[in-house]
Amino acid sequence: MITRFDPHGRLTGEFWAPADKSISHRAALLGAMAAEPVRVVNFLDAADTHSTLAAVQQLGALVERRPAELVLRGSGLREAREPEGAIDVGNSGTLMRLLPGWLVGQSGRSFVLDGDQSIRRRPVDRIAEPLARMGASVEAREGRFPPLRVHGARLRATAYELPMASAQVKSCLLLAALAADGATTLGEPTRSRDHTERMLAAAGATIHRHGRHVTILNHDELVIDRIVVPGDLSSAAFLIAAGVLVPGSRLLVREVGVNWTRAGFLRIIRRMGAIVLGDLEPEDDEIVTTEPTSDLDVAAGPLVGTVVEGDEVPLAIDELPLVALLGCFAEGETVVRGAGELRLKESDRIATVVEGLRGLGADIEATTDGFAVRGTEGLRGGRIASHGDHRLAMMGAVAGLASRDGVEVDGMEAAAVSYPSFTEDLLRLAA
Ligand code: S3P
Repeated sequence: MITRFDPHGRLTGEFWAPADKSISHRAALLGAMAAEPVRVVNFLDAADTHSTLAAVQQLGALVERRPAELVLRGSGLREAREPEGAIDVGNSGTLMRLLPGWLVGQSGRSFVLDGDQSIRRRPVDRIAEPLARMGASVEAREGRFPPLRVHGARLRATAYELPMASAQVKSCLLLAALAADGATTLGEPTRSRDHTERMLAAAGATIHRHGRHVTILNHDELVIDRIVVPGDLSSAAFLIAAGVLVPGSRLLVREVGVNWTRAGFLRIIRRMGAIVLGDLEPEDDEIVTTEPTSDLDVAAGPLVGTVVEGDEVPLAIDELPLVALLGCFAEGETVVRGAGELRLKESDRIATVVEGLRGLGADIEATTDGFAVRGTEGLRGGRIASHGDHRLAMMGAVAGLASRDGVEVDGMEAAAVSYPSFTEDLLRLAA
């Protein structure tokens, strides 16, 4: 589907971002693993999280949709049902990486996880290897890619240093550790999003952080009555970027999640000169059980280039395509380094972002682990392909509103993975 986005003039008004995708996936999994019913308020209604609901139903959970909430009745930590066929994760890397963490503890039962073309090129050895150290038997195609076969086993606690900062890998191992025989400690090179830690702590697990390490004890029963999912900052980021780029804009984002481990993008764009007022969560070494939210007041202003590297990368990983887009409009150079993980997302986001923005007139170059953009006071416009990647499609749409001649996005339907009403919301604010 080709959709055209023309420059419209300033964006104004308020909006609620859709529910957080990362937290919705975790809420559905926790609901399936819990001993008592779990009510989830504001569960994300999008393709990725539909895959998660279908998966937990195949594994024996009951899902009841009530007007204001979703009620999950799970089978408990050790009682996932062995499904008839493969579990289809669709396009969801989070589901593909997190779910095996629960399934490896189902002693004597086997499961197959598969997904779409994009999923089949995304590595799962990053979970298979540490899960095997814990005593699980996990087989991937060519040792590396889905489909993934998981055989439940008795698990050993472990101490493991993750080679990359990945919330997906960390979360998978935290779930597996619940069924292990003692205390598991995981280390990350730098911090990544901590929604799983918060939710497990809220559900009664014993879990502590000390710097880059997190320790969790084995546990028999998760109990959590209610999970409230905040608005997704990663989805809001696209509208925020539009508000920052289109001169004269002023947007109010309502009640969006501002967990410190997710808000890297806001810190980066403030440094670039964007005006973003709100009550951001400060960094905290303790694991808290809540997900903070804030209203954000966003206004357009002149931007300067910046460098994003090191610890900051995982805290803004899904928003880095937008940093590239903002860099096109900033004075000087914007550089992202140490973000090789981008190559393993729904598309190779270093290649697709660089090729896509260059086609719209950007002065941008790819490096092995990031990109460098020289600001050219904006973009001409043209056509960009989404490559089936929701975040590429939405970046193209925002580029269109901020460009001189408009942008045609080829494959806009990909936005439905995380933000089905994106085009409608963007055009309403631009009207
Ligand atoms: C996610 C973690 C990140 C992120 C993805 C969602 C999660 O992936 O890119 O969109 O929900 O845990 P990695 O953990 O692989 O970096």
